Amino acid sequence: MSKVGIFFGTDTGSTRKIAKMIQKQLGDDVAAKPLNINRVDASAFDEYDYLLLGTPTLGEGQLPGIECDCQAESWAEFVPNFDDIDLSGKKVGLFGLGDQVNYPDEFVDGLGELYDCVVDCGAEVVGSWPTDGYEFNESAAVDGDSFVGLVIDKDNQASLSDERVTGWVEQIKSEMGL
Ligand SMILES: Cc1cc2nc3c(=O)[nH]c(=O)nc-3n(C[C@H](O)[C@H](O)[C@H](O)COP(=O)(O)O)c2cc1C
Repeated sequence: MSKVGIFFGTDTGSTRKIAKMIQKQLGDDVAAKPLNINRVDASAFDEYDYLLLGTPTLGEGQLPGIECDCQAESWAEFVPNFDDIDLSGKKVGLFGLGDQVNYPDEFVDGLGELYDCVVDCGAEVVGSWPTDGYEFNESAAVDGDSFVGLVIDKDNQASLSDERVTGWVEQIKSEMGL
């Protein structure tokens, strides 16, 4: 069994691509193939000691889902499940996609929302990421000087995505002890 479960939400597929890059870098022995969060139920996380959860931010600083005009259900519909999920003893890394130019006042807010959900479930969150190199006014995903997880802006900084993913994967391998 793989040690790391990777789950993502997406509207237009970019978060899926980042999830696949992360899985590839971890390798099949370590990480299971990424699954769309709209294809699983509340028990999906049970079999893993380590989780990587990814989301874009859509609407106005929201998690993806039908309410913000996504093509399919996503994190917004999954969130009520967190009421019945216990993540204590699990290490969780988070990654979020957003657009700092067009949404500078709610940049990657969805990542912050996901962070609150998993912390409320008792998870130990690893993989915080520096805010250096991003320009924005406000973000619900900032805690102190750092984002609560990896932040990718493929709309404005696509050329940095590869190195950001590689750097973060190395960081979580070390922080998770993989
Ligand atoms: C209608 C719409 C609303 C968006 N709202 C936000 C937002 O509030 N904050 C943000 O950081 N990015 C926002 N974005 C940017 C997306 O998060 C970004 O394009 C992301 O890469 C999409 O990922 P996906 O292809 O996995 O759905 C928005 C994009 C669209 C199209």
